[in-house]
Amino acid sequence: MSGPVYSVQGLRKVFGARGWFGGGRVVTALDGIDLEIRPGASLGIAGESGSGKSTLARILVALEDATAGEVRFGGEPVDPRTVDPRRFYRSVQFVFQNSYAAFNPRRRLGAQLDEHLRYLTDMDAPARRDRVARCLEYAQLDSGLLARFPHSLSGGQIQRMAIARGLLSEPRAVVMDESVSALDVSVQARVLRLLRQLHAELGFTLIFIAHDLAVIDYLCAEAVVMRAGRIVEQGKTADVLGNPESDYTRELIRSCLPV
Ligand SMILES: Nc1ncnc2c1ncn2[C@@H]1O[C@H](COP(=O)(O)OP(=O)(O)OP(=O)(O)O)[C@@H](O)[C@H]1O
Ligand SMILES: [Mg+2]
Repeated sequence: MSGPVYSVQGLRKVFGARGWFGGGRVVTALDGIDLEIRPGASLGIAGESGSGKSTLARILVALEDATAGEVRFGGEPVDPRTVDPRRFYRSVQFVFQNSYAAFNPRRRLGAQLDEHLRYLTDMDAPARRDRVARCLEYAQLDSGLLARFPHSLSGGQIQRMAIARGLLSEPRAVVMDESVSALDVSVQARVLRLLRQLHAELGFTLIFIAHDLAVIDYLCAEAVVMRAGRIVEQGKTADVLGNPESDYTRELIRSCLPV
């Protein structure tokens, strides 16, 4: 495909405008976002807490609807009310911060990965087994873990398990929101190395949200900086971080420097 994989135009999200407490606090989480993401890109999204990063991520993966504006994936509208989930999530997967919560605590991981693949594809059981094994290899996880329950894995392992699950259907785009933020530095480094390698090998589009600009610098060729629901800076990561235009980005960079 030659066009952008994601195209976002005039995206707005207002929380609290409707409902029982209509007179209460209204939050404009996204305030006119325009964004084009090309196939195979690695895009980092940075910005202070509350700047709207997660809201944008949730709208990109059709977990939240927009108040106004338009999001298209492969040219087709992304709207939780109209999207065909099976088809959409075959192409778009997401990994969030706490992957323990992303798995059912009472079921073995092997069964959960198989179920995920059975839902998204028409593959038969042997093909699914092969695919699960392949994705475990991608995530550098031992196949013995498939017999285990989520809470018996370490933080790094469960995060890599979520990545393995995210790759099962050979998605065209993977959206990650603070996916390594909760991990210890050394574990984080390993997951980041893995992600960088997988992105290079498999060629999916990676949209990666992080507080930590060093993480985005390591992983993403392009970067967007958000503030109060708007994009304040956008470009190649090296330019955004090396030669920022806004004081806000400079401040963000300073706040990420080791003390
Ligand atoms: N479901 C919701 N209901 C009401 N307000 C919300 C909701 N979700 C987010 N918000 C508000 O929207 C704004 C943006 O929140 P969002 O979670 O997108 O920020 P963020 O950049 O991901 O922050 P963080 O870095 O802390 O994760 C915040 O003011 C937040 O309080
Ligand atoms: Mg967030």
